[in-house]
Amino acid sequence: MDLRSFFPLSLRLLLVRIRWFWKHYRSIRYDSELFNNVHGPLTYNTDGLATSNNADFMREERFARAYKAAAATNPWPGFTLQWRIHVVCWCAEQASLLPGDFVECGVNTGAYARSIVEYLPFNSLGKKFYLLDTFQGLDPRFISDAERTRGIDNYKYRDSYAEVVQTFRDFDVRIIRGPVPDTLSQCDTGQICYLSIDMNNVLPEIAALEYFWEKVVDGGFILLDDYGFPQHELQKAAFDRFAEARGQSILCLPTGQGIIRKTRTTLHHDTNTGR
Ligand SMILES: C[S@@+](CC[C@H](N)C(=O)[O-])C[C@H]1O[C@@H](n2cnc3c(N)ncnc32)[C@H](O)[C@@H]1O
Repeated sequence: MDLRSFFPLSLRLLLVRIRWFWKHYRSIRYDSELFNNVHGPLTYNTDGLATSNNADFMREERFARAYKAAAATNPWPGFTLQWRIHVVCWCAEQASLLPGDFVECGVNTGAYARSIVEYLPFNSLGKKFYLLDTFQGLDPRFISDAERTRGIDNYKYRDSYAEVVQTFRDFDVRIIRGPVPDTLSQCDTGQICYLSIDMNNVLPEIAALEYFWEKVVDGGFILLDDYGFPQHELQKAAFDRFAEARGQSILCLPTGQGIIRKTRTTLHHDTNTGR
């Protein structure tokens, strides 16, 4: 029995954050921008990200329309993921120029996918968008004890299957209901240009990545939604191992997302020496 499970969740989450800060503290320079806060009025301050940097994308008409469509799926009250959805739309547009289909594992109400089909002329691309989810939340069989201690099993999702069917009724979308990895073989695409992984726990996410890896085309985009979030450090560690083993690198974004752009050739990969 893990003694940590006796502590209330809020305390455990606080400890996870303190541990994260402690681990990274020594690598943060005192003259770094981190200690200078921001350089002017905040342009963005939500979802774990505060900055005074340019956020004009939020005022672009096409983005605003896509974001509105995403928010209308109503994932939860007070949904404010503009910067993450900006990244989603950008990756999707880049990926749309490549051969292959779109796949998302972890859909909930379909906010990300809905923003994409609004942002792109998706139906005219000749691609399919596969959406895989239990539509009932995480599968408890796959949550490890270490993840439970971090409060991962506290994520609650409503049954969103009927809503998602309705949301995507006019789009080239195939909905696959059930737990990943059990359902992976139902995804019958041969090539993938955009793979979004957002299931909040290690086992199904790594299983999906392993299953789809060979199908992702060269230059294809893999978007890892939870990559940089403190509570999800086990996913990050697993993704880092996965990438390392394949000579790939992961772009860590201040939004918390991570991006792998699949390369055919192995990158120079000693992160310490650069050789
Ligand atoms: C954070 S939500 C996904 C949000 C989504 N990407 C969006 O656009 O808003 C996580 C989703 O992963 C799903 N999920 C978690 N574990 C799963 C598994 N093993 N198989 C299928 N879906 C899973 C949950 O049902 C939930 O809908």
